[in-house]
Amino acid sequence: MKIVIITGSSRGLGASAAIECSRKGMGVVVTYNSSPDKAGEVVKEIAQSGGKAVALKLDVGNTGSFPAFRDAVAADLQSVFGRSDFDYLVNNAGYGLFNPITTVTEEQFDGLFNVHLKGPFFLTQILLPLMADGGQIINVTSATTRVATAGVAPYAAFKGGLEVLTRYMAKEFGGRGIRANSIAPGAIRTELGGGLNDEFESILAGQTALGRVGEPADVGGVVASLLSNDNCWINAQNIEVAGGYII
Ligand SMILES: NC(=O)c1ccc[n+]([C@@H]2O[C@H](COP(=O)([O-])OP(=O)(O)OC[C@H]3O[C@@H](n4cnc5c(N)ncnc54)[C@H](OP(=O)(O)O)[C@@H]3O)[C@@H](O)[C@H]2O)c1
Repeated sequence: MKIVIITGSSRGLGASAAIECSRKGMGVVVTYNSSPDKAGEVVKEIAQSGGKAVALKLDVGNTGSFPAFRDAVAADLQSVFGRSDFDYLVNNAGYGLFNPITTVTEEQFDGLFNVHLKGPFFLTQILLPLMADGGQIINVTSATTRVATAGVAPYAAFKGGLEVLTRYMAKEFGGRGIRANSIAPGAIRTELGGGLNDEFESILAGQTALGRVGEPADVGGVVASLLSNDNCWINAQNIEVAGGYII
């Protein structure tokens, strides 16, 4: 059984990715920060459909917590999955914040930086020794790296950094057969940044070739599929998953 760690999989895209990966036969390490109950529901849903999952707490914005997280992962790999390594890491955890450049505070900037760029960097670094050769890293970025959307500048800038980092991961880890790709969702109906209101949703749907905003499963299915061997030659790419947003 292949094993995937998906950060921020208590809700939203990550939860959908966890369920879709389980459907494809993977064991899943779900992580949560402030929603242990929701993470528990994801684990339960996977178990009820015959899959295997475990939930661990992780604050991606706190690198000081990473050694303990790595140790907890190692312990659960052994006790739950009977393995000493895992196969795939999906750096998905994140949050949205709307504030124009003129009023962004240093604290807001640092918070977004820690979760969207520094966290994925050092989490990948610390988990890499536990990752099996031939594995894969998927970093979740955003269509806002291509289309400038007023009010999300630091978020988009750090997601852009994560896209660049993805190519460097592919370069430096390729010798071990580890692929690294990023996916860039467009607007997806989740609780990110407080969720979508009707007016915003209809604007976004009108800007999308397929005429609607995305649902979490539209992205979760892509994560599961990208991890499969069918896509083994896709490497160092950023794949927009946005239904044709502003094309
Ligand atoms: N929804 C969109 O339109 C959209 C578009 C482009 C990109 N994205 C990206 O997709 C990813 C998932 O977003 P989503 O839409 O699924 O958002 P969401 O529904 O708000 O879920 C966010 C997830 O990230 C976790 N999380 C938040 N802060 C965290 C932290 N400091 N440490 C660890 N986990 C943390 C949350 O965990 P807890 O609930 O347990 O705290 C939750 O599981 C994010 O990276 C986001 O930037 C989303």
